[in-house]
Amino acid sequence: MDASAELHGRTILVTGANAGIGYWCVEQLAVRGARVILGCRSPERARLAVDAVRSQAPQADLGILPLDLGSLTSVAEAASGIDERLDAVVCNAGVKAAQRDARTSDGLDLMVGTNFLGHFALIAQLTHALAEDARVVAVGSLAHRFAPIAPATLSDPWRGSSLRQYGRSKAALMAFAFELDRRWADSPRMAVCAHPGYAVDPLTPPRPGAVETPGILRALASMTRGVVQGKDGGALPIVHAATGPDVVSGDYWGPSGALEFRGTPARVTVSDEVHSPANGSSLWSAAEKITGVPFPT
Ligand SMILES: NC(=O)c1ccc[n+]([C@@H]2O[C@H](COP(=O)([O-])OP(=O)(O)OC[C@H]3O[C@@H](n4cnc5c(N)ncnc54)[C@H](OP(=O)(O)O)[C@@H]3O)[C@@H](O)[C@H]2O)c1
Repeated sequence: MDASAELHGRTILVTGANAGIGYWCVEQLAVRGARVILGCRSPERARLAVDAVRSQAPQADLGILPLDLGSLTSVAEAASGIDERLDAVVCNAGVKAAQRDARTSDGLDLMVGTNFLGHFALIAQLTHALAEDARVVAVGSLAHRFAPIAPATLSDPWRGSSLRQYGRSKAALMAFAFELDRRWADSPRMAVCAHPGYAVDPLTPPRPGAVETPGILRALASMTRGVVQGKDGGALPIVHAATGPDVVSGDYWGPSGALEFRGTPARVTVSDEVHSPANGSSLWSAAEKITGVPFPT
């Protein structure tokens, strides 16, 4: 089949779609014929990303959805603004290395609030638009092993390093996806996790407006190519989780190479902590309580 028609007829929402791995998910999906909606907090950066995708795929079918995952009001408005059927939602937007006092506009910790709670509220309010066999893809991280989720203290001030709190936010997003898989057991819908390995901008092909890295950084980074990968490579397991015919609900995909840093998509393993039904269930209740958004299943 012509690659540009492979995903024709499918509509996929990607959050955090204007840069990094999210941008590459959009480009790879659009090149294969999917309609892709870019969920972005900056309309200007979203338009630059659209132009960059069209420089590779002039016929790309793209839409822009204003979406700030760090604002529950914006999330609710975005969800109610979707009036087309979604075949997949890729929960990619993410914040790393935030300061201890960094907050969302609702006063939540920036990393947990954006990476997990914003996506929880988004999917909860998007169920009206999800296709009967839709897929929700949670973009996780190797860092999910760095800290316990501790659902009961999710909204408390955190201690320890920013990296641990980032890991906790990704662990929570992934545990949400595994819990969604359990709650959708009698439905053809699928909830899946995927991670990009270790993916960096300087190893990523340039895309004016969306991927711009100084030449000196590219030259320095080229020495790491055997160990890590560009964000175009990082997008591969995520796009596979959203579209692959061999993917089943409850899967976790990542790169196949050493330490899962780079390589072609493969099934990978998750921590018991993140896969635990008890954690998933308490996390779900905590997320409903903190966001004030009930999740219909
Ligand atoms: N790179 C890696 O090696 C790696 C490894 C494991 C997991 N991940 C995960 O992969 C995802 C993408 O990472 P990346 O490296 O591509 O990061 P990135 O280059 O920093 O891109 C992050 C994207 O998220 C968006 N975003 C941030 N806060 C947002 C908000 N409040 N509302 C809407 N969009 C928001 C950003 O938009 P703006 O331009 O508006 O800031 C940007 O489009 C993240 O979830 C990250 O945790 C990455």
